[in-house]
Amino acid sequence: MKDFIMPVVKYRSKQDEKQLIMSSDLVAHLGMGEEQNIKLQVGQTHMNMDLKVNAAEKSRNTIIINANLARKLHIYPNRKYAVSGRGTIIQIGPVVGIMAETSRISKKPFGGQSFFIKQLLQSGQALGQICFAFSPFSIDWKSKSIHGYSWGENGWIQGHFPLPDVIYPREKAYSPVKLNIRKKLENMGVRFLNPALVGKWQTYRVITQNPSLVPYIPDTRLVNSFSQVDRMIKKYNAVYLKPIAGSQGRNIVRVVKKKNDTSYQYQYQLNGRLIKGSASSLAQLRSCLKPVMGNRTYIAQKQINLLQSAGNIIDVRILVQKDHSGNWDVTGMACRVGRPGSITSNISAGGSGRKLETTLKEKFPDKEKQQEIIERLRFVAVEACRTLEGTIGPCGEMGVDIGIDKGGKVWFIEANLRPARQVFTLIGEKNTRLLSVKRPMLYCRYLAGF
Ligand SMILES: Nc1ncnc2c1ncn2[C@@H]1O[C@H](COP(=O)(O)OP(=O)(O)OP(=O)(O)O)[C@@H](O)[C@H]1O
Ligand SMILES: [Mg+2]
Repeated sequence: MKDFIMPVVKYRSKQDEKQLIMSSDLVAHLGMGEEQNIKLQVGQTHMNMDLKVNAAEKSRNTIIINANLARKLHIYPNRKYAVSGRGTIIQIGPVVGIMAETSRISKKPFGGQSFFIKQLLQSGQALGQICFAFSPFSIDWKSKSIHGYSWGENGWIQGHFPLPDVIYPREKAYSPVKLNIRKKLENMGVRFLNPALVGKWQTYRVITQNPSLVPYIPDTRLVNSFSQVDRMIKKYNAVYLKPIAGSQGRNIVRVVKKKNDTSYQYQYQLNGRLIKGSASSLAQLRSCLKPVMGNRTYIAQKQINLLQSAGNIIDVRILVQKDHSGNWDVTGMACRVGRPGSITSNISAGGSGRKLETTLKEKFPDKEKQQEIIERLRFVAVEACRTLEGTIGPCGEMGVDIGIDKGGKVWFIEANLRPARQVFTLIGEKNTRLLSVKRPMLYCRYLAGF
């Protein structure tokens, strides 16, 4: 990565719109000539300008720009912005847009994600970026600008922003319309931090192509018929049925059939309620599960005998992210404990957080064993990210769910492209949480070529 320089931008109303004045130290740093034509790039806005040098000693590390132009570009006076030089191009920012669903509540324009998005914006601003958050439906294609929200001292500020260098996609639901918007933006040169969502079945198929991961992946099948589910149940006694496009533990079913027993026991959560039942035949099982499965496509997966705490299941959420180096690294690991009786550990379904070390010390007193498990967790998480991005395209972060069974073996459960990081707040790891917000903004810088 090139040096992190952040000059102060100053406005001048009388200055020619086509002129960019820089202190001599900056011009040298960016490798530009003393007087030359340059292309100023702010997001997808490109302008031909004349670069002039301000030789005054006290002007060090400053850029002077026409006030009108600066306002149009959302560059504020007396603030520090990151700059980068490439050939005859000078880039300011980068411009980073966080794309998310909006809400009607003015204090929380992005609903439940508002606090997280505010933290991202603050973190991006501290890195000298021009950042804002927006709904995919607030793009004005004609003027190539976006109505969005930035964060200021007194709260949310609405405005029109230039098309960004990079978009951090944080929308939860997908639709063909949104995919089209994404394609259109990509064709205009906008990069995305993460690909569109990928289903559980595709994830499974991609990662099983990596032989080093195969020992950690539970047997999984795409459900075409209930007789296939039956074969899985006979083989493993207990299976999880999961919608390929599901998240937050919704619509997941657990089916158990004890040896020499003719009936199936099932459990699922619907609207926060835990539902249990039994079916005496496969046909009956299918009709009992209709309310939760609907017409969705499902996978069936062997049940992992997860560790438990007071009878509640435990698994591990690993946040793997890239930063300005463009390399994967584990930002944090935390256990999630399902609420009593629950078949999932998801925080959104009432699960709680717990430090990984606490669980490991309690379940595996041997220090070497603890270390071995930690290494395996890291290996599986990072390797899964690498393998996935080989097929689905470059990614900036993933939340990987991994189970540890009673024997200490680790099992890949799922990789999530819109990972929540709430669990780190719940276990009091403030620094992990802060790092988890900073890293994606650093990766945006990398993606923008800074
Ligand atoms: N095969 C399995 N064996 C035991 N427990 C499982 C299994 N699959 C899932 N679970 C439990 O259910 C939880 C939710 O499963 P999973 O992560 O696959 O779905 P999701 O959370 O809805 O999807 P996503 O992680 O993509 O948001 C897991 O975190 C784990 O606690
Ligand atoms: Mg999950």
